[in-house]
Amino acid sequence: MNEYCIKYGLNEERLPQHVAIIMDGNGRWAKKRLWNRLVGHRAGADAVDAVTTLCREIGVKYLTLYAFSTENWNRPESEVSGLMELFKEFLISKRNVLVEKNVRLNIIGEKDKFSPELLKLMNETIEATKQGETKMVLTLALSYGSRQEITQAVRKIAQKAASHEIDPGKIDEKMISESLYTFDMPDPDLVIRTSGEYRISNYLLWQIAYSEFYFTDTLWPDFKKEEFIKALQDYAGRERRFGKTGDQLKK
Ligand code: IPE
Ligand code: IPE
Ligand code: MG
Repeated sequence: MNEYCIKYGLNEERLPQHVAIIMDGNGRWAKKRLWNRLVGHRAGADAVDAVTTLCREIGVKYLTLYAFSTENWNRPESEVSGLMELFKEFLISKRNVLVEKNVRLNIIGEKDKFSPELLKLMNETIEATKQGETKMVLTLALSYGSRQEITQAVRKIAQKAASHEIDPGKIDEKMISESLYTFDMPDPDLVIRTSGEYRISNYLLWQIAYSEFYFTDTLWPDFKKEEFIKALQDYAGRERRFGKTGDQLKK
């Protein structure tokens, strides 16, 4: 038995293997205080620690955080550059603790959109956390958009078909899944969105086909351990039917 599950009142057998979070509400959190939006983003970055630690403690193997979408490039230049600085800081300041805690960092999205400096930091942190044992995988979705991801997958598969490496008739769901940025992880079991918005905003469209959803009005910088535990308890009570009837599942 996992001691943390007992401590937090969680049923270890009904934990999600993969939690994906849309970390929304940083801007409104700052605005309420008449602060600059970037102060909200900084508070948002600070809120990542609590959920990562909890996942590692209780044994949630994959945590995927939506930090910057392909559409977020259209925000004011000052906000975009402030966010890029924040990502750099995050990669530098968290590297040691991630290594120490056996958390492997993974990044999904259009990596070629980033500055060489940020790219170098990403690769260094990814490499550093690859060594040794992996207790959990923390994935940051950066310059991530699901339609972009699916488009690049289609392009890759089409190129293979054009060069006769694969038979178009043999293209199946598995091949598509394996062509996405998430090729090496299971689909999310639970998707959480903060800040009272009820939309997906181009996040993991293919992967969430059968995910459970949890929406909360809490703004991301205020999303703490207690609320995460609440979401996990809620998830534990769900019946995932995958198209079958409730009676079939009881057998
Ligand atoms: C989420 O917070 C973080 C990013 C999208 C980078 P927002 O910046 O979207 O916050 P709101 O939605 O404006 O409150
Ligand atoms: C989604 O939040 C992207 C991230 C949390 C990084 P947005 O705030 O960009 O989403 P919309 O535009 O309100 O749908
Ligand atoms: Mg938002």
